[in-house]
Amino acid sequence: MSELEDDVAILTALLSIDFQSTSLFDDMIIELSSQMYICASDSSITTDILHEAMNYSLGLRGKYARGLLVLLVMTGWNKPWRSAIYCAKAVEMVHTASLIIDDLPSMDNASLRRGKATNHTKFGEPISILTAISLLSEAFKLLASCPELNAEQRHLAVTCLASSIGLNGMSSGQMRDLVSLKTEIADIELTHALKTGTLFAKAAELGCIAANVSGEQKWLLSDFGMQLGKAFQELDDIIDVATVSKSTGKDTSKDTSKPTIVAILGIKKAEQRAIKQVAKALDCLKSSTAKKSHLRQFTLNLTRAMLAMIHSLED
Ligand code: IPE
Ligand code: IPE
Ligand code: MG
Ligand code: MG
Ligand code: MG
Repeated sequence: MSELEDDVAILTALLSIDFQSTSLFDDMIIELSSQMYICASDSSITTDILHEAMNYSLGLRGKYARGLLVLLVMTGWNKPWRSAIYCAKAVEMVHTASLIIDDLPSMDNASLRRGKATNHTKFGEPISILTAISLLSEAFKLLASCPELNAEQRHLAVTCLASSIGLNGMSSGQMRDLVSLKTEIADIELTHALKTGTLFAKAAELGCIAANVSGEQKWLLSDFGMQLGKAFQELDDIIDVATVSKSTGKDTSKDTSKPTIVAILGIKKAEQRAIKQVAKALDCLKSSTAKKSHLRQFTLNLTRAMLAMIHSLED
């Protein structure tokens, strides 16, 4: 058996037994969810409906995977996670903006998100577009004036998060997703890396920046985030075909016309591939000198929850 196959076998075994809902994760989720709003006094907001639309999407409960990643990287470096809460909030704001855009009629045309009406269904498309733009801009304002960071860290943090959105990140990935000209697995993998992996990678990097960790150690955790983000999108694509909106809280069967790993490999093989991808992510942690137990547990819990969703309709 190769080392990776070995890892996959160990991971498959772990996924069936090693489920821990630690109070640390619960505490982080409670704290993150309490941060998911923008006060009128936080900005020069004068437009009531825009403000309402921003807080509507931000306030709907997500998994906070990217925010948790920031906080767990902090704990990995033995730093108090609460002192990166604004960094985590900024990442979740960017993520929420990306979902609003992804759901638009001209994109995935979705009507359900986080168990509720999508932003444009509730507020109309023009307000929804402005909401996403405003959330992005508020996220950068938060980082640029972040009391948790010194001037150099703020500069690094803004540059880091900005690079998750544009030409080397989410927009580029979403563009590839829309056009879907190429249909090889490697093309889909690049799309996943750009549209989803990058924000996970940048979340891990932000945790390092807040912990004052740089150089190789930062890149190792960034790569962990990237590999985890790619696995996450593979599992999400399987969820899109294998489940129903009632369990996901969002529209399903939205990607049937797109070349996805499920369209190419079928559900079973796509799932095996996603598990291998999770093993790759865990492999990145091996060379990191950070404390890894929480990041590892988070990866296992997230994978387990998504696999459970995939199998939820089986009898
Ligand atoms: C959905 O992300 C978008 C993808 C990259 C697949 P999440 O599944 O993390 O969305 P929330 O934040 O939990 O709603
Ligand atoms: C969207 O991927 C990824 C983003 C960058 C927002 P999906 O279109 O698969 O996300 P869901 O399934 O609608 O959450
Ligand atoms: Mg999409
Ligand atoms: Mg979508
Ligand atoms: Mg999806």
